[in-house]
Amino acid sequence: MLESVTDLAVLREQVAGWKREGLRVGFVPTMGNLHAGHHSLVRLAREHADRVVASVFVNPTQFGPNEDFARYPRTPDADRDGLAAAGADLMWLPSVDTMYPYGAAAAVEVRVPVVTAVLEGAHRPGHFDGVATVVSRLFHQVQPDVAVFGRKDYQQLAVIRRMVRDLAFPVAVLAAPTLREADGLAMSSRNQFLSAQERPVAAGIHQVLQGVRAAIQSGRSRGEVEEEARRRLQASGFQVDYVAVRTPDLLEPDDGVGGARVALVAARLGTTRLIDNLEFDA
Ligand code: PAJ
Repeated sequence: MLESVTDLAVLREQVAGWKREGLRVGFVPTMGNLHAGHHSLVRLAREHADRVVASVFVNPTQFGPNEDFARYPRTPDADRDGLAAAGADLMWLPSVDTMYPYGAAAAVEVRVPVVTAVLEGAHRPGHFDGVATVVSRLFHQVQPDVAVFGRKDYQQLAVIRRMVRDLAFPVAVLAAPTLREADGLAMSSRNQFLSAQERPVAAGIHQVLQGVRAAIQSGRSRGEVEEEARRRLQASGFQVDYVAVRTPDLLEPDDGVGGARVALVAARLGTTRLIDNLEFDA
């Protein structure tokens, strides 16, 4: 049975009860409008915990002034059904007042330096401050033993890992693989904003990332490969924010030295901004 909770005292009581019984608590933070990718996170949490809490909170502090906070899709009934089917035990639905008792403008903030300076962080100033701020609050509210994040948001995962280590949160962070549509498009709540013409084009991001992997593995120079990928995306109608090949820490790799790599893309089709990445060995 999935319980929906909006009151912090009730959440704490429930989680404390589980912990008294010696149960391990898993946690999946989300902004709702859940799809199969989110459900897979809940299933992974289930494998590593005895009880699973999933939160649904559209966090205002991680949206920029020109971003889609107001139009972010809210589908609470479908979210509830999906979480129940995926095996969550508790749906945590904090209000903005519960999350930010002094208001968002007067909130204590958590800022993770260095890893937020590049890529998404550079294109969406303040975004990761909002993410780190809300995830630290969610961790204090839920007090999970293990929390699951998707590799789809690769840099977000890196930010959370650094925050957890630097602030010594007693939470194990687990990374879940990216779920994709049949044509390779990474599942995302934003895909529904793509027009019928844009939707097939969007799958090009995954194809371009696969091309980047093959080109790097065949020994071609990083700058050249990134530039060619950018041109391919632009030719199919994307406005490209970045295409980058990085180390797992999101640093620029030493050219000529192999090792683990991640290729990352952010690009817009019309008004819809999509991100994706591909991890590989060079
Ligand atoms: P949201 O975009 O709802 O994503 C919630 C979680 O689902 C994130 O960890 C994200 O990486 C994961 N996810 C999204 N699409 C996925 C896919 N196709 N396959 C696998 N996992 C996927 O990310 C956020 O919310 C917020 O920033 C949050 C962490 C909740 C803080 O507000």
